[in-house]
Amino acid sequence: MSELIFTQGLTKNFSGLVAVNQVNFHIKKGQVTGLIGPNGSGKTTLFNLLSGYFPPTEGTITFEGRDLTMTPPHKRVAMGMARTFQLVSVFDSLSVWENLVLSNLAFKKKGRSVVKFYLKSSKRPDVLDECRKTLAVVGLEAKAGSVTAELSYGDKRRLEIAIALSLKPKLLLLDEPLSGLSDHEVGEIIELLHRFKQELTLVIIEHKISKIVGLVERLSVMNDGYIICEGDPEDVLSDSAVRECYWGKEKGIC
Ligand SMILES: Nc1ncnc2c1ncn2[C@@H]1O[C@H](COP(=O)(O)OP(=O)(O)O)[C@@H](O)[C@H]1O
Ligand SMILES: [Mg+2]
Repeated sequence: MSELIFTQGLTKNFSGLVAVNQVNFHIKKGQVTGLIGPNGSGKTTLFNLLSGYFPPTEGTITFEGRDLTMTPPHKRVAMGMARTFQLVSVFDSLSVWENLVLSNLAFKKKGRSVVKFYLKSSKRPDVLDECRKTLAVVGLEAKAGSVTAELSYGDKRRLEIAIALSLKPKLLLLDEPLSGLSDHEVGEIIELLHRFKQELTLVIIEHKISKIVGLVERLSVMNDGYIICEGDPEDVLSDSAVRECYWGKEKGIC
């Protein structure tokens, strides 16, 4: 498997606080990687750097062999990177359908205003077909007309994942997609991730490894801004530094 994305010496310094420190993160094409670590260890900041939310203080990011360290987020999306956020980020006042179509088109418009583009494109059969297909994949087609504010938290997560999938990413970064969900909802999202993992390269941030252990092929562990351990999940979980960083700070890894 070739490398889809890698970083070299990636560092983010927030006025003296080094949230990500000299990180060399390598993701192979087609791999499902879990990114774990205690709260505040730098996981979300690493995603923010990979997706271009802010620039690194030092270091580089290479995606499909191209340096995109300073490439803006919307261009990274066009190149095949999508992400979801730790706090679900969808428009509550819009319907499920409007959220999907609008977010999808916002990244595809060229020059025109999003609203004009939406009004024109929302009548295009190819766009409607694509959005319908994506809603079916995540099991939300019956709720297409529902106001997003009225959805369960699990369905909002599904919608967020649907939006990311509709952008046809090669790399999908999921920031704690299971947080705040009931056990039943966790099972549903895991089942969904299993279904589309063949078509994508996935990186999933999750705090409790037991939830994703059946899904990931590889684990990377962050602590205090550093990647302290990487590799086969079983080896990583038995690593003494990993166990110490979890037990030292929190209740446990599982
Ligand atoms: N935008 C920001 N400005 C200043 N400090 C930040 C910012 N984002 C994150 N941090 C700090 O960086 C550290 C790592 O945070 P984060 O990446 O959110 O950790 P994690 O996702 O592993 O819980 C924390 O100390 C956090 O307070
Ligand atoms: Mg986080």
